[in-house]
Amino acid sequence: VSPSAPEADASAGALLDRFRRARRDPALAVLEGLHPLKHALRFGADVLEAVTADPAALARLARAVAPDVAERVEVLARPVAPELAAVLAKRAPARDVLALARRPPLDLSGVLRDPRPAPVVLLEDPRSLSNMGACVRVAAAAGAAALLSTGANDPWHPDAVRGAAGLQFALAVGRIGELPPRGDRPLIAVDPTGEPLHPGALPARAVLVFGGERHGLTDELLAAADARVRIPMRTGVSSLNLATSVSAVLFSWRLGGGDGQAM
Ligand SMILES: C[S@@+](CC[C@H](N)C(=O)[O-])C[C@H]1O[C@@H](n2cnc3c(N)ncnc32)[C@H](O)[C@@H]1O
Repeated sequence: VSPSAPEADASAGALLDRFRRARRDPALAVLEGLHPLKHALRFGADVLEAVTADPAALARLARAVAPDVAERVEVLARPVAPELAAVLAKRAPARDVLALARRPPLDLSGVLRDPRPAPVVLLEDPRSLSNMGACVRVAAAAGAAALLSTGANDPWHPDAVRGAAGLQFALAVGRIGELPPRGDRPLIAVDPTGEPLHPGALPARAVLVFGGERHGLTDELLAAADARVRIPMRTGVSSLNLATSVSAVLFSWRLGGGDGQAM
């Protein structure tokens, strides 16, 4: 039995309200598109609901690009009117699927005590949400233990989630206060004024701190660091993009064996 018009309006209104509230809720994540939903499911997220304007197209896409979770995507995604999906998506065009999931809470002291030989990435006051998303994505790919940030921008913002393809669910991700309590981890500033970075030279459990897009690392963080490294570059090139430099350093660590013996 299809719902009456007033019933359908009420349920559309309630759905809009849930998504609107979720965008401001630090306990929830808004997933726009199949890739964020795919990674959320793969990495064990608690997905609360999902909607799509075109279940058949979503099912085809899911079977093509995410066969391991396609069946779960199809079961989860409820059909909604295209106009409603377009409003929920915030950004035109409406994405293939929109979902809400619970964010795993950040256990900062657990992250710092984590004995695995994997670095923590810390972004100091990053400004671009898409850059933050790209940093989360590469941190997940390289096997970092966590991606933390300071400043006003949230690495779980829907734009950052989209930029990371939802890989926030693959490692510990969150915003922290100003300077990190670092436990027994060495704090390494990644900065163009540092010593040249050599593959395999980074201590495996380092906190690797990167500066914001415009001004780089603050004097306070540079002073607190145990060491400072730079990515050697061709003369005349001033600096790399933030996410590119996170990628260069993490893959230097990963491909170099990551035991830090050379530092
Ligand atoms: C776009 S850059 C910031 C540029 C800023 N004007 C500066 O001079 O530091 C953002 C961050 O990427 C990292 N970065 C970029 N290029 C780098 C390099 N060649 N060596 C080390 N870190 C680099 C640093 O952490 C830097 O704070």
